[in-house]
Amino acid sequence: MPTRFTEQSQRFRPNSNEGQVLQKAREHFEATLIGVQGELAGSVAAMEHRRSDDALNYGEIFLRDNVPVMIYLMLEGRFAIVKQFLSVSLELQSTNVQTRGVFPTSFVEEEGELVADYGQRSIGRITSVDASLWWPILCWIYVKRSGDVDFGRSPEVQRGLQLLLDLVLHPSFEGTPVLFVPDCAFMIDRPMDVWGAPLEVEVLLFAALRSCVGLMELCQRHENSVLLAERLRLSRQWTHDLRQFLLKHYWVTSKTMQVLRRRPTEQYGENQHHNEFNVQPQVIPDWLQDWLENRGGYMIGNMRTGRPDFRFYSLGNSLASLFGLLTAPQQRALFRLVLHNRDHLMAQMPMRICHPPMEGVEWENKTGSDPKNWPWSYHNGGHWPSLLWFFGASILLHERLNPQADVLLMGQMKTLLDECYWSHLNQLPRQQWAEYFDGPTGTWVGQQSRTYQTWTIVGFLLMHHFLHVNPDDVLMLNLDESMGH
Ligand code: GLC
Repeated sequence: MPTRFTEQSQRFRPNSNEGQVLQKAREHFEATLIGVQGELAGSVAAMEHRRSDDALNYGEIFLRDNVPVMIYLMLEGRFAIVKQFLSVSLELQSTNVQTRGVFPTSFVEEEGELVADYGQRSIGRITSVDASLWWPILCWIYVKRSGDVDFGRSPEVQRGLQLLLDLVLHPSFEGTPVLFVPDCAFMIDRPMDVWGAPLEVEVLLFAALRSCVGLMELCQRHENSVLLAERLRLSRQWTHDLRQFLLKHYWVTSKTMQVLRRRPTEQYGENQHHNEFNVQPQVIPDWLQDWLENRGGYMIGNMRTGRPDFRFYSLGNSLASLFGLLTAPQQRALFRLVLHNRDHLMAQMPMRICHPPMEGVEWENKTGSDPKNWPWSYHNGGHWPSLLWFFGASILLHERLNPQADVLLMGQMKTLLDECYWSHLNQLPRQQWAEYFDGPTGTWVGQQSRTYQTWTIVGFLLMHHFLHVNPDDVLMLNLDESMGH
């Protein structure tokens, strides 16, 4: 392992064209911005896509793809675009009986008309849940960063939050605080056996509830509403319960695994708390032992009765760290795990979306033989450059909030990040800012990858900003920090 580290650092030598690459990336980014009702409202998902195929929606404004776009625009002080994006998305929040409160996956203006997709037009007619959860998070970050408290307090925003909370915090057939969703409900939007309570959705729910609380508190100081107070109480309680639930059932380390493997099974009754989901030790995969080594830890992908999903999902884990769902020592255990498994997770093109891929009969059964999600491709173990900045931001935020902690580890993490940044810098312009990369090392441009993909471009610009322009700006992603008003 150590020899490969040296090889990698030699390979990812700083590039003397940095200034030129950044300049080009900024130009590409400007070209992705499009308007709605005469004002810039967000970025298309990709600049280049074959117009003849069914992937036309790459020309639309996706809520999830615009998360890094909006963060970047805020760093540049271009708040008007962010406000327009938030306002248009809010206008499009569904009022239909069956989908009341849902935000669209994507939207676009076509011949003067606003067209939105809630899943009724998408391939496979899938429902996005993450878009709805990202909206309050972005709105809260926007209000904090811009100081536009009036927007946060406005009746439109508060009503939007109320609709969303009604949709999420309601009784269900399931007595747990998680949000139960179908397969394909987030960034992974093709069948990947990620139905139930996938990590990314649950972490976003946690952050969304926190953000809703922050936004509702802006009003509480001025209104004396019993309803608002009740909604605040419920949201706070739910956030707390959800966090406890996720830390208990999703967080694993070598130590917790040793306990889990020796737990009793078939536990009936309220006082039997060792194995609530009746997980048999045989379902624990072999690769987990080396993956965790002694001091690593991560959150597993999903918990379902008898069938936990032990796959590692980069985005859910990065967000769990960034949004403070994980405690500071847990965050460092996650960083150690990524460092230990860097040949898998970073390899030639940081960062792999999920590990390990499904192969053979499992791939046939669980993806419905989806050729786009072939092993080591796309969502099934592919490498997505757009994911790196989320992980990078979680390291840099950790460092800002815990400046004294494990300086040695944090130094190694910064070196790792820098090397990843250089590897993007050296490869992405040549590979036309591709959407994703294939193969166990992520060297090859994805078989069906779009080029000039917006979140690849803007993710690179964000990583550059947080690493080399102003690391303190990462504090804007700290949801805990209050308004100071
Ligand atoms: C693909 C991705 C999805 C992304 C969309 C637009 O469908 O799976 O996560 O939002 O492309 O880029």
